[in-house]
Amino acid sequence: MPPLLYEPRRRLWLLRTPSTSYAVRIDEDDVVRHVHWGADLTMAQALELAERTPAAGSSFDAVGGAEELAVEGGARFGPPGLQVRFADGTRGVEWRYAGHDADDGCLSIHLDDRHYPLRVTLHYRVHEDSDVIERWTTVENRDERLPITVQRCDSAAWTLPCRGGYRVSHLVGGWNSEFRLRRSEVATAETVFTSRRGMTSHHANPWLAFDDGTAGEEHGEVWSTALAWSGSWRITLHRDPAGRTTWTGGHGHEGLTWSLAPGETLSTPVFAGLFTTGGFGAASRAWHAYVARHVLRHPGELRPVLYNSWEATGFDVDEAGQMALAARAARIGVELFVMDDGWFGRRDGEHAGLGDWTPNPDRFPHGLRPLSAEVHRLGMRFGLWVEPEMVNPDSDLYRAHPDWVLHMPNRGRTELRNQLVLNLARPDTAAWAHAWLDRLVTEHDIDFLKWDANRPFTEAGWPGHADPDRLWIEHTRSVYEIMDRLHADHPGLRIEACSGGGGRADLGILARTDQIWTSDNTDPVDRIAIQHGFSQLFPAQVMGAWVTDSPNVATARQTPLRFRFHVAMAGALGVGGDLTTWTEDELKEAAELIATYKRVRPAVQHGTAYRLTGEGALTAVGYAHADRFVVLAWCPSRPYGHQPGPLRLTALDPRATYRDPDTGATYSGAVLVRSGLPLHLPEGDHASVLVQLDRIED
Ligand code: DGJ
Repeated sequence: MPPLLYEPRRRLWLLRTPSTSYAVRIDEDDVVRHVHWGADLTMAQALELAERTPAAGSSFDAVGGAEELAVEGGARFGPPGLQVRFADGTRGVEWRYAGHDADDGCLSIHLDDRHYPLRVTLHYRVHEDSDVIERWTTVENRDERLPITVQRCDSAAWTLPCRGGYRVSHLVGGWNSEFRLRRSEVATAETVFTSRRGMTSHHANPWLAFDDGTAGEEHGEVWSTALAWSGSWRITLHRDPAGRTTWTGGHGHEGLTWSLAPGETLSTPVFAGLFTTGGFGAASRAWHAYVARHVLRHPGELRPVLYNSWEATGFDVDEAGQMALAARAARIGVELFVMDDGWFGRRDGEHAGLGDWTPNPDRFPHGLRPLSAEVHRLGMRFGLWVEPEMVNPDSDLYRAHPDWVLHMPNRGRTELRNQLVLNLARPDTAAWAHAWLDRLVTEHDIDFLKWDANRPFTEAGWPGHADPDRLWIEHTRSVYEIMDRLHADHPGLRIEACSGGGGRADLGILARTDQIWTSDNTDPVDRIAIQHGFSQLFPAQVMGAWVTDSPNVATARQTPLRFRFHVAMAGALGVGGDLTTWTEDELKEAAELIATYKRVRPAVQHGTAYRLTGEGALTAVGYAHADRFVVLAWCPSRPYGHQPGPLRLTALDPRATYRDPDTGATYSGAVLVRSGLPLHLPEGDHASVLVQLDRIED
């Protein structure tokens, strides 16, 4: 069955993914309206649905059904996804259908304004191996003389079937507390999810999931969407009193404009949508598969076990200290050694040096090559921390180019962490950033960059530029372009996305990076909840997770090494403790646990993930990969001393038999599915276990 079907008489398109379908039609007034998003339909069924024109309301109501991109203009009173103002002051759009292109899974519906030279195209893309539908918008100014002011241009609007009520799942947080999952009833109101920070943000993530309130981890219908954008964004959810539920979203927050020059086209990022049955777990697994197949650059690679110096040394890095850490890291099985902040300029704290990207001569008298060579000699790859979008005012760069930062006339320059944001929308600033990064990677044999960004935008002006607001979009595009160029010129380079932890985690940055630094909070108990939220959208292979020292620097909580490892093993494992203070016993235990991780790593990183429990006393995840199923279970505390009951493994085959290679125990699949796996957790708080089960026969 071809993925795109068209019925010209009714002007209806049916987009089909492997197990869902999506239908839109063009009405008599040339408005593109939503028909269906959900279970698979035939064309005849979609046409039947399209005949259901919404009941006419009173003179106080909007006309017609939900639109694929709600514009401002006419009898529309909901949140607009497209707002434009023409040079004569006229606002809003009146559509005239201008044709479509459909090819190779892509549908583009062209719409012109009836009077003004504006062309808007709604884009859809479907894949043969995913139920994710990608949507985005382009707006083109076809005038030869006059600009058009774009006040809002969303990527897409999404619509749910009209039902009694819905629940929205979303992620909230802050620095050190990202990705906390919340579920709440969709209010009969306009609810805004947004970042005004110039970054995706720790506080909200542009991923949302909807269900009718009855879905669980493994059952129920779920509609979810994710915006592929790493700057400011806004998604407005609207449920009206008649029960219609839609949400419109795209890049940029409210109040920003883009002056679309004659002949110019503005293209939005992808806003991807997914309908699944099978609950929140199935939705996450479908997103994970989509990320691996259509977003990541190197999905087939196993992420190396990483060491990062930040929690061990802070800014206090030097050649001897890093070499001592590297020697111990290599001993315990680390594969990638990353030196964090403090290696450049006069960067001996937060107050100075950002922007001066040459090795500090006191700390690295012979540059970075000796350390890079030593790390490579020890059999590890070498990685380096950078923060290319930022500058300390106390730096040679700022003294030479005070105009390169975001700023406005007659306004202060708000410093956060003693730093300002470089305006990478400026071609000269972007060229400088690319040039030093390219040189750094080339000259020092860098295999990996941790790309950090430690503050949001403020006073985001661009004096002298006729259309300064566009920096909110162009800065992020410039970050993407620099990363893309580095990848093109250095095919072996891998990049970690970081913004003070997980402040820039989204599908846009993941198309240019290999993993995300999930959170600066490395406390394993807090991490269980953070990882639970992160896993809603993102696969384990991109979830950076370090084992650090105890007591934890953020929470002062003391936990056993084994518990810390077991929590971090649920993602791309790293170590971030001060290895020079670890005892021989601790180093030996760490080496054993890293060896265990390497054994189960293909399952964790390339398998299919199952969240096996909620967020109660026991949390467990499982990864199915070929004939292997790996379970990680964590029990931070044991209320009343009760041992958790057996862990049901409903993803297993009830007809098969499974063997635990560590204990030799065998289990029938039927028992594991129906009754569960006895966990044999150690006594006391912070207990954890890793169990590997191999299918041995049918
Ligand atoms: C914030 C990051 O999240 C940390 O891991 C570390 O790299 C610091 N920045 C360094 O300044």
